Amino acid sequence: MTPIGDLSALDGRRIAIVGYGNHGRSHALNLRDSGIGNIVIGLRAGSPSMETAKADGFEAVTVAKAAARADIVSILAADEAHASIWADDIAPNRPRGQALIFCHGYSIRYGLVEPSEDADVILAAAKGPGGAVRTEYEKGGGLIGYWAVHQNPSGEAEAIAKAYLEGIGSGRVGIFETSFEEEAVSDLFGEQAVLVGGMVALAKASFERLTAAGVSPRMAYIDCVHELKYLADLIQARGIEGMYEAISDTAEFGARLTEPNLAKAVGPEFECLLSNIRSGDFARDWNAEHAAGAPRMAQWREAGRAEPVETAGRELRSRLKKRT
Ligand SMILES: NC(=O)c1ccc[n+]([C@@H]2O[C@H](COP(=O)([O-])OP(=O)(O)OC[C@H]3O[C@@H](n4cnc5c(N)ncnc54)[C@H](OP(=O)(O)O)[C@@H]3O)[C@@H](O)[C@H]2O)c1
Repeated sequence: MTPIGDLSALDGRRIAIVGYGNHGRSHALNLRDSGIGNIVIGLRAGSPSMETAKADGFEAVTVAKAAARADIVSILAADEAHASIWADDIAPNRPRGQALIFCHGYSIRYGLVEPSEDADVILAAAKGPGGAVRTEYEKGGGLIGYWAVHQNPSGEAEAIAKAYLEGIGSGRVGIFETSFEEEAVSDLFGEQAVLVGGMVALAKASFERLTAAGVSPRMAYIDCVHELKYLADLIQARGIEGMYEAISDTAEFGARLTEPNLAKAVGPEFECLLSNIRSGDFARDWNAEHAAGAPRMAQWREAGRAEPVETAGRELRSRLKKRT
């Protein structure tokens, strides 16, 4: 197991982890297992995560109380809540000189949080889903880490960022420098164009096309959705050309014919996505949606659960002897 690197920049500092969801829980557990004591969890009043944090052996208090006594606050609550968490709970209670850590450039890039000048403002992003921050750490690894510094009045922001990333396991695989701007734009574009939006759009559209042509929903689901993981694993381990080497020549030939046409078809949509992200239109839309109680999200979720592709997935999973 690769050892954890230099954590000395965190020595003697009290760390508040705000939010105990996928990233918050994983960061807190990894930091503690790496030898960082003095962690307190900050949660909203009535949070369902209060019991989980306590069962994990942490002290869990309100965000305001956690912020009042921490030298470093790592904001790992949902992005859409950052503005109110900062304004209502952290800013009025934080001691001068308290450092702020974010796991995504979003809140600073789009002005949801405007920290005072005395705060080190740090990006320490483990790149990937929060649950994987913990599972990879437990396997002796971590997720790739990116750091950036937005404000550095103490002169220690870079050292804190790197030590924090070491503590959550990223130092075992690789830590790289970025900027809040680059990380925010790249992360949003990647998830909208490929990892979430693009992948789901292609999977659903291909499932619908095949079933409309008479293919059974179960077969269409296996070929267009279920098998995605195997290809994603190959790309992560070996790169795109390595994935091509690992699949049949028939599959590779068809894919190489299709690649340029699909790329051309999505080009204008990608331009639109990037433009909306860079201009801040996407962030404004999401802020407004959240402020209105997320009505479109509720509709999309309800409609999504009722789609034939979901029915096919549930049916397939219920018939599998062993989940794969
Ligand atoms: N860099 C990357 O690749 C990457 C990847 C994924 C996520 N992230 C970032 O990591 C952060 C956390 O994401 P996540 O996936 O861990 O989210 P998550 O699993 O949805 O957890 C969100 C947490 O935020 C808390 N929360 C929501 N509204 C709140 C409020 N008004 N006041 C206080 N707490 C509130 C929730 O509290 P309850 O427990 O009370 O519900 C929950 O503990 C975000 O900034 C996200 O952008 C970065």
